[in-house]
Amino acid sequence: WVTSAHTHESFLQCLDSQNSHSISKLIYTPINSSYSSILQFSIQNLRFNTSSTPKPLVIVTPTNISHIQAAIICSQKHGMQIRIRSGGHDYEGLSYVSTFSFVVIDLINLRTINVNAENKTAWVQSGVTIGEVYYRIAEKSRTLAFPASVCPTVGVGGHFSGGGYGMLMRKYGLAADHIIDAQLVDVKGRILDRESMGEDLFWAIRGGGGNTFGVVIAWKISLVSAPPTVTVFNVQRTLEQNASKLVHRWQFVADKLHEDLFIRIILNRVNSTEEGKSNTTIQASFNSLFLGGIDRLLPLIQDSFPELGLVKEDCIEMSWIQSVLYFDGFPSNSSLDVLLDRTPSTRRNFKAKSDYVKEPIPELGLEGIWERFFDKDINTPILIFSPYGGKMSEISESSIPFPHRAGNIYKIQHLIYWDEEGIVATKRHISWIRRLYSYLAPYVSKTPRAAYVNYRDLDIGINNHAGNTSYRQASIWGLKYFKNNFDRLVRVKTAVDPANFFRNEQSIPPLSSW
Ligand code: FDA
Repeated sequence: WVTSAHTHESFLQCLDSQNSHSISKLIYTPINSSYSSILQFSIQNLRFNTSSTPKPLVIVTPTNISHIQAAIICSQKHGMQIRIRSGGHDYEGLSYVSTFSFVVIDLINLRTINVNAENKTAWVQSGVTIGEVYYRIAEKSRTLAFPASVCPTVGVGGHFSGGGYGMLMRKYGLAADHIIDAQLVDVKGRILDRESMGEDLFWAIRGGGGNTFGVVIAWKISLVSAPPTVTVFNVQRTLEQNASKLVHRWQFVADKLHEDLFIRIILNRVNSTEEGKSNTTIQASFNSLFLGGIDRLLPLIQDSFPELGLVKEDCIEMSWIQSVLYFDGFPSNSSLDVLLDRTPSTRRNFKAKSDYVKEPIPELGLEGIWERFFDKDINTPILIFSPYGGKMSEISESSIPFPHRAGNIYKIQHLIYWDEEGIVATKRHISWIRRLYSYLAPYVSKTPRAAYVNYRDLDIGINNHAGNTSYRQASIWGLKYFKNNFDRLVRVKTAVDPANFFRNEQSIPPLSSW
């Protein structure tokens, strides 16, 4: 895999010779003045935007499928690895970092969306963001929606490849549950759709993780209904305002609430001032979307979660598309055009992990989390608890590769952000989140300790850097992400990419390397 400058030159010549549509203007190498800005444009995690981060030898930004076919064929011919990038939100930077000589195929120019409001379907190319999808749906209809990411800058390509969830998850399931066709370029450079790729491969690309089975160019999705009025609220309680008891209680109701109601909890550390005294505390934000009006919501909450003390004044009615802006933190009078902005509002260093909870964590267990949040040596700790139940419990574990369905009360996302540069700060923060993860072990899912592939976490196991990876080795991380679906993913990979061309630290290995 180690490639000389000569091979990289041959790769570029190969691209040129393969291609009828001129590709030269779409290629960036480190000698181009815009190479760095193209590379950095969609990098979300600043941890992978340092001078020592390995950089691609070539970035290709295709405008045409033939460019992708050429990049795949020439990379194989000249021993280059490829990384596919859509929105660049990968938590571990896998779409633009590799320790090998590599090419990034960046799908930034593949940005077409065709919404058919009558049939309630849309074709979306992988290079668009979820925000653009929401925007184009709203342009056609205010009562159609799509159940995907809370964050609009997330790219469709990676998001759909790993499942994709948001505030509509309890009502409709995941983004990948609503994919009904796709267009993919495989390792041989063939363009395949659902019919020609077959049901096994079509199953695998809907949640089996990106950069494994081919380059997905476009997805056909089925849209869902949204009522003309939804209600949002964000009720905040500190430890002094009984947050521990409320979070504890929430665990008994969160997955059993009416499926029109999604209440997640965001936990963070804040400074509060009470009676003139400033105090560091933990704040729990009960952040919620209800698919209906306030009048229907209040009695529902009164019945199922009265402890929250929700009052009419906490609630705001709006359209579903406005709620997308609300949950991303935009003021209520913002123009929908902000959804077309691909630049994330903040970029910081971060590390994240995920867990699934099947039994409520006792209050004492929650208090151990708060203790860790008070650690003064770390910058911004956050935990997000996202409720399951509803539609998520009705879909079978093997329907798509994403297996986390009935039996889960909620998913935890652990996050730590920091701004300080350098290896010392990085180590300190990563060590903190690993300790929190160890602490939570008795309270979360076991054998396997489950994880969400879109919250990519290389701590849970990686493939060998060079050569083959055994089934046993890959199953350490594979069973956590995919449970029993891992075996089927390995079988599909073996059939479609036996030489393991599409690979990264956590791509599914083919059978030849068992
Ligand atoms: P990126 O381009 O980095 O790709 C991610 C992976 O998919 C890489 O391995 C890449 O090679 C591969 N890939 C990309 N395009 C491909 C294609 N066309 N064909 C084949 N492989 C491809 N998740 C969630 O479910 N709900 C949420 O609300 C959020 N919110 C959120 C906020 C923020 C700020 C971040 C950084 C992330 C999230 N996520 C999330 C996680 C997100 O779903 C996950 O990181 C996605 O994989 C990102 O997809 P991108 O295309 O942006 O990433």
